[in-house]
Amino acid sequence: MDNEKKIVLSGIRSTGHLHLGNYYGALRNFVEMQNDYKCFFFIADYHSLTTQPDPALLNPSVRSILAEYLAAGLDPDKANIYIQSDVPETCEFYTLLNMHAYVGELEKTVSFKDKVRKNPNNVNAGLLTYPVLMAADILQHRADFVPVGKDQVQHLEMARNYAVRFNHFYHTDLLKEPRPFVAQGEPIKVPGLDGSGKMGKSEGNCIYINDDDKTVIKKVKKAVTDMTPTEQNSPMSDPIKNLFYFLQLVSTQEIYDQYLAAWNDCSIRYGDLKMQIATDILKVTTPIRERYNEIYADSDYLNKVAAQGAEAARESCRKTLKAMREIMGFKHF
Ligand code: TRP
Repeated sequence: MDNEKKIVLSGIRSTGHLHLGNYYGALRNFVEMQNDYKCFFFIADYHSLTTQPDPALLNPSVRSILAEYLAAGLDPDKANIYIQSDVPETCEFYTLLNMHAYVGELEKTVSFKDKVRKNPNNVNAGLLTYPVLMAADILQHRADFVPVGKDQVQHLEMARNYAVRFNHFYHTDLLKEPRPFVAQGEPIKVPGLDGSGKMGKSEGNCIYINDDDKTVIKKVKKAVTDMTPTEQNSPMSDPIKNLFYFLQLVSTQEIYDQYLAAWNDCSIRYGDLKMQIATDILKVTTPIRERYNEIYADSDYLNKVAAQGAEAARESCRKTLKAMREIMGFKHF
């Protein structure tokens, strides 16, 4: 079994677009994992209905997210890429898992309590059982690893619990306990240019992969700075640290060193630093944006990728589901 590749799985939100935070934080890891693991990447469109049910937006946002991730490097010849709602087996799996998920523990989930607070008029059962659906996504493929950000750690923990609980209850080892995937080296956290610690959709400070030149320049120019240093080797403020962090992500070492030296000898001009960052961001995003435009316009290609992904994903789920049904006592008449 040792030579069989381990399985990595991740769901991608279907709302919101790919921004530099996702790109450096997750996507670039996905692109590497494709070579070393058997990967499942899917767009979690069922999950989006728990907060944003909008029939007019659902399909266009799934298509554009799919095209963005393909443009940025997900490769359907290496990874299994599919749309969650194209795999109805997930729903059956979710129904079966629900019988072993306790309402008490679901009510205590941090993300659930958060959403109840933010949107008290739409506390639907799908929202409550969001972690069960997520566990179904993972357990149905018997995934070994799930790359998760901080906000998803508890959900993954619950998926592990459901696997253990199921196995224990039915005296089986069918379900595999998924582990968090820990990338090597320092985790990359992309800061916000508004002086905040993190770039994120809810922070409203994102630079999107699909932003055009003007928008990127405008956003970077608005970045928070402070007064130019007047004394050599004075301590660097957080907003300036953020700018340098950005520069390190998108520029060459040489340019980075040059600006750092200018900061140290107080000759730096923040306007130049910002233009440099904007220019180098665009060097990263422009080719992706161009590929995105091509892919998004090519419906046949998108349909083909989704169909191929769905077929392979369904086959993988069916195996686990068939065993699960038998274990739980379902028999054919
Ligand atoms: N809940 C995840 C998010 O909001 C998306 C997701 C759905 C997911 N199913 C998953 C992630 C399974 C990992 C594994 O980002």
